[in-house]
Amino acid sequence: MFDFHGKNILVVGGTSGINLGIARAFARAGARVAVASRSQDKIDAALKLLGEDNPNATPLGASFDVRDNEAVLAGIAGLHQGLGSIDVLVSGAAGNFPAPAAGMSANGFKSVMDIDLLGSFQVLKACYPLLSRPGVVLQISAPQAYVPMPMQAHVCAAKAGVDMLTRTLAMEWSPEGIRINSIVPGPIEGTEGFDRLAPADALKARVAQSVPLGRNGQVSDIANCALFLASDFASYINGVVLPVDGGWSLGGASMAMTELGQLMAKQGGR
Ligand code: COA
Ligand code: NAP
Repeated sequence: MFDFHGKNILVVGGTSGINLGIARAFARAGARVAVASRSQDKIDAALKLLGEDNPNATPLGASFDVRDNEAVLAGIAGLHQGLGSIDVLVSGAAGNFPAPAAGMSANGFKSVMDIDLLGSFQVLKACYPLLSRPGVVLQISAPQAYVPMPMQAHVCAAKAGVDMLTRTLAMEWSPEGIRINSIVPGPIEGTEGFDRLAPADALKARVAQSVPLGRNGQVSDIANCALFLASDFASYINGVVLPVDGGWSLGGASMAMTELGQLMAKQGGR
């Protein structure tokens, strides 16, 4: 339905889960796709899938840690050489673990802030001169940005920052033709992020009951939204933080995330 032939897409954190699903959707829509993350093995596996999704455009990969600004600059410069200007940047690298604030080390808090928030800033800033005008940035946020969740102080703080970064940069960068929006996935089946917060099937089923649409999300639900937001059909949507969650943000998310957090607290984290 969406046509991205001739477009260059970079997905940072695009080697597994939701972000890989987004990268693959762009490849199937005809785009040339580049992915980046830390693990070369995950990059190689993702490139194989992306090559199958779009045999007409060789996918590219780069290994770097978004916390290391020098590595981000070098990795993105290398991808830019092969790709040309970046039409769509998806920034979705993230880390998470359940831990109580009182028992979390400063370095534990910092590691998630550095991946999710500082990492996003470093990626966006490195890409800024390389983005097409008009160009699109999509940040992948999380419900913890607006629903406080026990055992998630680090993620709540970091993702709230990610969304304010989206809104602020929409004011700074869109006069040049760069639209920037956040996608906020709800609970997405078959992903690392959901498994870390709801490790048992019974818990996932309880979460599904708290979603007004009565189901947890699929990776394709998020990928479809990314295609839409990056397309010209969304050319007047800018600076928005968009939940894609079956209506979970209307109330169920608060109940379910409190319950999951309290359960994890009883089990003590780790
Ligand atoms: N509970 C409490 N603290 C924890 C923890 C846990 N479950 N896991 C890690 N930490 C702390 C460590 O103890 C360390 O702090 P310290 O030096 O004071 O001991 C700090 O976090 C960094 O840990 P480390 O293992 O060195 O980090 P890393 O850089 O190798 O990995 C993580 C980063 C911890 C976020 C790791 O989970 C990761 O790589 N995640 C990516 C995948 C992911 O989370 N996917 C879901 C996305 S939503
Ligand atoms: P995932 O599979 O673990 O994806 C995380 C990606 O980021 C991987 O490609 C990982 O690859 C990369 N990454 C992690 N740390 C990195 C670092 N320091 N530097 C560079 N890359 C790094 O998790 P997911 O559950 O699909 O989550 C994807 C995004 O969706 C995240 O932003 C998350 O917050 C958001 N989200 C998820 C859910 C959900 O239900 N899963 C809900 C709401 C929001 P490497 O390990 O190779 O680095």
